[in-house]
Amino acid sequence: MSKFQKLLWGCTIAAAQTEGAYNIEGKGPSIWDEFTRKSYKIKDRSNAKIATDFYHRYKEDIDLAASLGLKIFRFSISWPRIIPHGTGDVNTKGVDFYNNVIDYCLKVGIQPWITTYHWDLPQKLQDKGGWTNREIVNWYTDYVEILKEHFADRVKYWILINEGVVCMGGGYFLGVHAPGKRGIRNFIAATHHLLLAQAEGFRVLKQKKDLQVGTAISCTKIEPYRDTINDRKAAIRIDALMNRLFIEPHLGMGYPHEDLPIISRISKYYQEGDLERLKVDFDFWGIQTYTREVVKGTWYIPYLGAMLVRPKKRNVKTSIMGWETYPQGIPYFLERFAKYDTKKPLWLTECGMALAKDEDDQNRIEYYQKVIIGMKSVLDKGVNLKGILLWTLVDNFEWAEGYIPKFGIVELDKKTLKRTMKKSALWLKEYLLNIEL
Ligand code: GAL
Repeated sequence: MSKFQKLLWGCTIAAAQTEGAYNIEGKGPSIWDEFTRKSYKIKDRSNAKIATDFYHRYKEDIDLAASLGLKIFRFSISWPRIIPHGTGDVNTKGVDFYNNVIDYCLKVGIQPWITTYHWDLPQKLQDKGGWTNREIVNWYTDYVEILKEHFADRVKYWILINEGVVCMGGGYFLGVHAPGKRGIRNFIAATHHLLLAQAEGFRVLKQKKDLQVGTAISCTKIEPYRDTINDRKAAIRIDALMNRLFIEPHLGMGYPHEDLPIISRISKYYQEGDLERLKVDFDFWGIQTYTREVVKGTWYIPYLGAMLVRPKKRNVKTSIMGWETYPQGIPYFLERFAKYDTKKPLWLTECGMALAKDEDDQNRIEYYQKVIIGMKSVLDKGVNLKGILLWTLVDNFEWAEGYIPKFGIVELDKKTLKRTMKKSALWLKEYLLNIEL
């Protein structure tokens, strides 16, 4: 079998985007429940009260994934479903639900993977400052301890925090995601605490030696608009923000303040031993990349001195997300990551393309075909890539974009909640069947 044939294929979903059942069987409110109440923040004025109703239809979705030949089912745990107030009492109904999901995966022969945090913080904790409150390091580690106690007997692969830069950037800097906070101070404090929490969460899970524990990193290729010193320097700053800030402290390299001077302010939040505590030796890294950004230097954007040059301005076609579709980012980041540590296993833990409602699904197939070419090319260069998880199985609640972008390989009828395989799902099934031939 070639290295390519040995790759494992799976899919990723997230609680806040799929589960629905937002206020039943003991679940407490999350920051996304609260954020979507102010519906003007969501493009189509929707919310995730029902979402795809995964809470009641998990068997159908896991069956679908298995029937396509997928071997991994990555889902996230909703913290307020397990601990409704964020700390304190555990909701046994919530624990039962995830036990059922795990057991059903195992029953149909698909490996369950857990993400401990995919952005749905308990609102009760946000009321105390959320990630800007250093206490969250303890709140989070207690939560992870509970997850370990209940699920680590059957779940071997764990992802701690999904895309730190996106949830901190969207939620605590730009205010476009829950909890809708803005400003550099919020961002810097929250980022430091999130990374500390992730490091401590790692240590909690690794008390159980046989677990494989990693993180999932959002990566966006950054390029200068013009070949000028100004634009090149701007690109270095934004690259440090987007592609290094949430990685290098864990590798013992500290924060990238030389290339991103504003981040020096983070030292205000240090306590003794923090930099040492941030170091962790993840068992694997999850890479997630969707697009590329082009930036130019400008003096009037505070802190960063850079602005994005939108794809439209560059005459580049975009997906319904307004993103330049950029499968070339996949080999680029896999190779770049492999340079940090040549032996560490890498996974593509999310990878996909959004289509508009009536757009031809052939575009998604072509996107995945390019992804496959990229994966083959890095395997040939010796990169230790282990597998790929597609984003995503069923069309779902795409955060501030509501239900407009369709990332699923399975279509969701929003009214009836009926699932229908798209052309890309059928293509994938056929592809996976033939891969070993
Ligand atoms: C990722 C995120 C997912 C999904 C995807 C597509 O950043 O982890 O939840 O929304 O992007 O936008």
